[in-house]
Amino acid sequence: MKKPKAKILVVEDEQSMREILGMLLETEGYSVVTAADGTEGLAWLQKDIFDLIITDIKMPGADGFEILKKSQELSPDTLVIMITAFGSMESAIEAMKLGAYDYIYKPFKIDEIRLIVKNAIDKRRLSTEVSLLREKIKTTYEVENIIGKSPKMQEILRLVPKIASNNSNVLITGESGTGKDLVASALHNLSPRSDKNFVAINCASFPEGLLESELFGHMKGAFTGAIQNKQGLFEVADGGTLFLDEVAEIPLNLQSKLLRAIENGTFRRLGGTTDIKVDVRIISATNKNLKEAVASGAFREDLYFRLNVIPLHLPPLRERKEDIPLLIEHFLKKYSDRKVQFSGSAMNMLINYTWRGNVRELENTIERILLFTESDVITEADLPAEITEGLKEKRHLPEIADGIDLEDLLSNIEKWYLTEALKITGGKKTEAAELLGLSFRSFRHKLSKYGIK
Ligand SMILES: Nc1ncnc2c1ncn2[C@@H]1O[C@H](COP(=O)(O)OP(=O)(O)O)[C@@H](O)[C@H]1O
Ligand SMILES: [Mg+2]
Repeated sequence: MKKPKAKILVVEDEQSMREILGMLLETEGYSVVTAADGTEGLAWLQKDIFDLIITDIKMPGADGFEILKKSQELSPDTLVIMITAFGSMESAIEAMKLGAYDYIYKPFKIDEIRLIVKNAIDKRRLSTEVSLLREKIKTTYEVENIIGKSPKMQEILRLVPKIASNNSNVLITGESGTGKDLVASALHNLSPRSDKNFVAINCASFPEGLLESELFGHMKGAFTGAIQNKQGLFEVADGGTLFLDEVAEIPLNLQSKLLRAIENGTFRRLGGTTDIKVDVRIISATNKNLKEAVASGAFREDLYFRLNVIPLHLPPLRERKEDIPLLIEHFLKKYSDRKVQFSGSAMNMLINYTWRGNVRELENTIERILLFTESDVITEADLPAEITEGLKEKRHLPEIADGIDLEDLLSNIEKWYLTEALKITGGKKTEAAELLGLSFRSFRHKLSKYGIK
């Protein structure tokens, strides 16, 4: 079904400006009504409902603030963008505080207007859809607190309940912060094992001997310091799920013992003499490439196959930017009762940031922003420097008129992308090369050319 054209009201007293805006927006496919001053604008608000209003702030008769106020009173879902003369930043900020969606400076760039309007209309469409389909969206965009609307996450949300009902072992892979823990517990909660224990252990946080006794338990006197008998986590998880986080860190030695326990469903406590039988489903997770670990001999292949019966890969957040607004909304609700909104440009920055720490970093950022801002409209100025600076570096290229050295400029840009890609992938060259669309050879060549370690 073809969507009806979005309706925009332009209120602007300067004739040339009004006509340019009107024409531009009509070419973009919107249905546009123009008003030559505030009073005419107010009259339109009584007569019709608009998706978006673009209004000048300073006008004879009623000004932009009155338009904003009236619009909020009559149709609160309509978004309002204020036009402000360069240099009168305060009135723009004031307007944002009063609930304007965004502001643009006069004189404006055509592309900028196009983008801001498009984002506004998309947002408006989304919020209409959200209110229409709230219940439906809840079930499709969220499973057990896992949020996502990107095609990749939709696929995962569809799979999670199916995998949960199955009894096979699952290996969850993905960068740090992509939701591996979250998915592991969802798999347990949605499984027939949910009335038994979900036991998680981080294999990286124990030295070898201790990890073994954590997993399998020990009898008094099995080693120095074993002053009592102790059940292992395999026993605690009996009937339920054992979550082996950072599974790549299990020492080779212990890997064989783990393999036997999984294959036979039995094991012995350290120092124990009887076999203990358990029924445990194993979910493991890693941010390492386990296949590579197998190839290099650091991980047993047979154990890898036992653990990786069902593989589940969580994509990094930068590959599913569509999820970001939804996640932000989720974390705003989680951390505050305030009704907080992001300006269009602040939201864009959050969407386009690379989020090396994935959802975890996004969550922490939102929590911090809520802690440090009192205003209910979050603008670019409220965002942490690392988010705004990275983008600025990229956007602000020097003017030709200032005189540039193109070779030098291009190598700086190249260097910046090489280092950034390495940071994002935690130093993994193969992945960094892939991110930049380079072959590994040429990536390595460039690194040595610039002396990047
Ligand atoms: N898709 C998601 N929807 C909602 N919250 C998420 C999602 N993915 C991750 N989170 C949250 O981000 C944080 C980090 O997730 P976690 O599962 O610990 O990541 P990992 O184990 O991969 O490092 C947690 O607070 C988690 O609840
Ligand atoms: Mg984790």
